[in-house]
Amino acid sequence: MRVGALISGRGSNLQALIDACAAADYPAEIGLVVSNQVGAQGLQRAERAGIATTTVPHRDFDTRAAFEAAMTGQLEAAGVELVCCAGFMRVLTGAFIGRWRDRLINIHPSLLPAFPGLDTHACALAAGVKLHGCSVHFVREEVDAGPIIGQAAVAVRADDTPESLAARVLVAEHRLYPACLRLLAEGRVRIAGDVARIEGDVAPEAPLINPVP
Ligand code: GRF
Repeated sequence: MRVGALISGRGSNLQALIDACAAADYPAEIGLVVSNQVGAQGLQRAERAGIATTTVPHRDFDTRAAFEAAMTGQLEAAGVELVCCAGFMRVLTGAFIGRWRDRLINIHPSLLPAFPGLDTHACALAAGVKLHGCSVHFVREEVDAGPIIGQAAVAVRADDTPESLAARVLVAEHRLYPACLRLLAEGRVRIAGDVARIEGDVAPEAPLINPVP
């Protein structure tokens, strides 16, 4: 499956996808990386891997619709079938989401539907949850909503700061995103209403319990 990635910055999740795609038996390849930020670190990661990149600066466009149409044009020209948001910091709207419906996924740093939006790690600490994590989901018009493909959980520790918690969640993100993309590329994800169903037995038996019993 030929995928496109939308980024705005560091691109560590993009790097995880690049690394996964390098394996001979991985069923996806990245055809194009699009950044809305000039000089995003993720662009260098793609270039180093020999992947085509383009910058579509949102400020160059009068409307969000025109910005998104320009991105769709680039993705279509690259033959992209599925779009992965990987730290893409613009809210996507109607026509773009419609054009890529069920072919547009995102990684969000919380166990959705808890903590949509920004500052998820600080919100998790303020709420006192003992498990936190990340989710890969299909993009819908409601921000950080949409059928969930996969989630990874990490234990929250008593001495966690938003930064320390973010760092542990990020490690989990880098494992989760390639795993979910693989399932999609293998055609093992079906959407039934508001829910994504995974074909085959992928759920582990063991619970993650915090505190350790
Ligand atoms: C990640 O935490 C991701 O979940 C969120 O933005 C961050 C992007 O980091 N959407 P990176 O650019 O992939 O390093």
